[in-house]
Amino acid sequence: MVTTLRTASCAIALCLLSTPGLSGDSVPLRARSRGTGIPPARPATPIGQVINIEAPLGLPPVPIPKDNPPTRETVFLGRKLFFDKLFSRDNTVSCASCHDPPHGFADPRPVSEGVNGLKGSRNAPTVLNAAYNEILFWDGRAPTLEAQAAGPVDNPVELAHSLVGVERKLAALPEYVELFEKAWGPGRITYEMVAKSLASYQRTLVSGNSPFDRYYYGGEKTAISESAVRGLKLYLNPSLKAANCVSCHRIDVKFSTFTEPRFHNTGVAWNPQTGQLTDLGRWLILPGKKMAGAFRTVTLRNIALTAPYMHDGSMKTLEETIDFYFEGGRPNNDISVDMPHPGLPDIPKAEQAQAKKDLVEFMKTLTGDVPQNAVPPDFKP
Ligand code: HEC
Ligand code: HEC
Repeated sequence: MVTTLRTASCAIALCLLSTPGLSGDSVPLRARSRGTGIPPARPATPIGQVINIEAPLGLPPVPIPKDNPPTRETVFLGRKLFFDKLFSRDNTVSCASCHDPPHGFADPRPVSEGVNGLKGSRNAPTVLNAAYNEILFWDGRAPTLEAQAAGPVDNPVELAHSLVGVERKLAALPEYVELFEKAWGPGRITYEMVAKSLASYQRTLVSGNSPFDRYYYGGEKTAISESAVRGLKLYLNPSLKAANCVSCHRIDVKFSTFTEPRFHNTGVAWNPQTGQLTDLGRWLILPGKKMAGAFRTVTLRNIALTAPYMHDGSMKTLEETIDFYFEGGRPNNDISVDMPHPGLPDIPKAEQAQAKKDLVEFMKTLTGDVPQNAVPPDFKP
């Protein structure tokens, strides 16, 4: 049953985000009114007070698209929308239901559940620092936060609500009509405004100044434990026979996102019993060499908060993820050439248990600050 649903939701998300024009309802957002009798809306441009999103220690400046500078008004509106259950057809699910603040804006369930408890097939990643992702989703099917925000609402599992349905619901609520007017000027509420407001709010969710950042960039020698320092050394070792974490989850000279815009088959999706991949990942979007079963390298920032792990939420603890890498992932035909060698022969057997602990300790130093206004004042976990 889960498989059927997965195929259904993937297929829809796919056409939504990678085949412009296939669904007149979504991409490009402004073209939607073609043929519906509704006059096309002007491109939505924020009219409020532009704000500067300050990057915390350890992170680069936040990339801002020209046509959607964040304003006080759009960010406020985007935050309200993110936490509002009106987004789902039956008013039970909000963005925050799956991107849950106490869980680092990720989902503690292995795969997300949407309206009516329907299950998807993938774990919801954190939206903290999503502002830095050059490509979004596990399979990279959305290029920007704006495009991403058009996805979940039309995904039957996630929010089960058409974009037009959301526009209508919002237009009937005077409080929202006023907030949209303040943010976008007078006129009809369009989904483009909704998507852009959500994107601007999410761009403010930058999280750095972690113990690692204070140690590595702030020169604070005691910000992380000795075990974590040893873990960092292993992490930075580029040998395929000893960890090689850094070649995918990047650490850079001036700041680190702990991610990269590349996809790898690490073997998470490989089922050795059936000899098949459980999810084709990137290949579904862009078939190519080694792309079957490949997923985006996701950030490791705030990783201690965002269990369970991997695209399918199949690993419950950080210890499990480390065991996985020490085994060289799960060997299969398409496994990435950057994956560590099984057994990590460069780390002496007697030191492996400690090495694993040190790597986990290091990952725990990546929990950063979350901006003060990330949740509404009345938010209760
Ligand atoms: C029912 C659960 C659910 C709801 C509700 C939901 N999401 Fe998601 N979200 C997911 C899952 C699962 C993924 C990963 C899907 C994939 O990659 O195939 C995801 C991915 C994302 C990403 C991409 C992050 C990245 O780094 O690639 C962003 C951004 C995001 N969601 C924002 C939102 C916003 C904004 C809303 C509300 C409009 C929302 N989500 C509602 C489950 C949900
Ligand atoms: C070849 C590139 C590559 C290397 C090397 C690599 N990773 Fe990953 N990492 C990935 C990809 C891709 C994913 C997502 C895989 C999936 O879900 O199918 C991932 C996922 C993870 C996750 C889970 C993230 C989440 O939010 O669910 C953790 C933790 C992790 N890696 C830690 C490490 C550590 C520690 C090392 C070094 C021992 C390492 N990685 C080496 C590419 C890599």
